[in-house]
Amino acid sequence: MRTRELHLGLMFWATGTHAAGWRHPDAVADAAYDIELIQEVSRSAERAKLDFVFLGDRLASDPALQHSNPAQISRLEPFATAAAIAAATTHIGVVVTANPTYSDPYGIARLLASLDHLSEGRAAWNLVTGADPAAALNFGRDAHWDTERRYDWAEETLAVVRRLWDAAPDPDGTGSRRIDHRGRYFSVDGPLDVARPPQGHVVVFSAGTSDRSRELGARDADVVFAGPQPTFAKRKEYYADIRARAARHGRADRVAVLPGLTPIVAPTTEEAVALHDLLNALLVLDPEREVGDIVRAGGIGEGHRRNLTSASEVFGVDVRGHDLADAVPAAVLAGVSEEGARRLAEITRLTRRTVGGPAPITYGDLVHATPAQLSHVVVGNPEEVADMIQEWFEEGAADGFNIYPAYVPGAVTAFTELVVPVLQRRGLFRKEYRGRTLRDHLGLALPPR
Ligand SMILES: Cc1cc2nc3c(=O)[nH]c(=O)nc-3n(C[C@H](O)[C@H](O)[C@H](O)COP(=O)(O)O)c2cc1C
Repeated sequence: MRTRELHLGLMFWATGTHAAGWRHPDAVADAAYDIELIQEVSRSAERAKLDFVFLGDRLASDPALQHSNPAQISRLEPFATAAAIAAATTHIGVVVTANPTYSDPYGIARLLASLDHLSEGRAAWNLVTGADPAAALNFGRDAHWDTERRYDWAEETLAVVRRLWDAAPDPDGTGSRRIDHRGRYFSVDGPLDVARPPQGHVVVFSAGTSDRSRELGARDADVVFAGPQPTFAKRKEYYADIRARAARHGRADRVAVLPGLTPIVAPTTEEAVALHDLLNALLVLDPEREVGDIVRAGGIGEGHRRNLTSASEVFGVDVRGHDLADAVPAAVLAGVSEEGARRLAEITRLTRRTVGGPAPITYGDLVHATPAQLSHVVVGNPEEVADMIQEWFEEGAADGFNIYPAYVPGAVTAFTELVVPVLQRRGLFRKEYRGRTLRDHLGLALPPR
């Protein structure tokens, strides 16, 4: 069994994963198209010896994200971006999201094999089955397929893609064979017209939430990229579930579970809290609405909106008509619901403000805490952020993290220059790359042909 190692990646999210990241003074308005910035951010991740840079993808545009996630409305297609990142770096892995629901296995196999060749063994595929039902309407379909159909299709795709890689020619053109796949969805003869990837099989990430997604991740993926969970206990449960499923497939120590993590870090705790407050103060609140109408939040997933009516509804405290900077009286917060109490504890963890304490929770805190977060957020100095990472790693909640930068590029360098050295000093994270391929970084053996 291999020694368990901490793995860290960087999610490239051009205007930041915080819903006000695009308004931070550091933000670059056209970062999604600024290839020099994308390359420079990737190089800073590489200087910190991170495992990979991660590129998400959607196959639909949502103009409603203008005031929360503008770089999710339009951005560069990830394979082209990944090629430019690979050309500007030498060691760091490059993870590309591709959704098999809207692609054929032969096309996916050749794109990924090509990326693996031009990066010299640093490519990975983040296999998703789609966050955007609207994508269906861009690909000649009437509706988004249901979970069963999407995962049946994805599983056959992955099997065919790997068979195509195994049967692909060597770079000198020799050694290829047909696969003559005749499956439920695909008929693929092969061989592939791109040589076998340097990594044999390009590394596979899987990201999803359903039972089918957990099963696919545990059985077939090298990395499970995990979404947020409401509590630490649930996070550990999720981790244990993926481990148990992987063990049933005889691969207990071959799947790394990496959730997202948004670190808001500064040299001192006070500065980190001030930075978090600054970002929250820059949030654009959603238009008010009638109470009871649940709508999309932040564009990713379902949730409550960020506005006064939603906050009032979630906490059961009428925040309307108050100055958002004003303290909420402790007596008012005494009667919140169980969910409200959970969120109050989250507010205290992030802001260090407490109910009725010397620095009391404000009405603004309730409003900012209303929508679901894209990932776990930690606010603190470098040691505090490293403590959280160490705790999750050692307590069996994660094998590492995909780091979501709240704003770009400042939050990337804050993590790579302030937190990574602490993790390295503690002996938790590598100081040098052991090899050149992403498989080397992840401790994955080269699969035999
Ligand atoms: C951490 C994480 C990252 C994801 N990234 C993407 C992405 O970049 N593009 C995408 O279309 N879907 C993405 N998804 C959505 C999944 O593809 C999946 O369809 C969605 O979570 C619904 O789950 P299910 O398919 O397992 O039912 C992501 C999901 C998670 C949990």
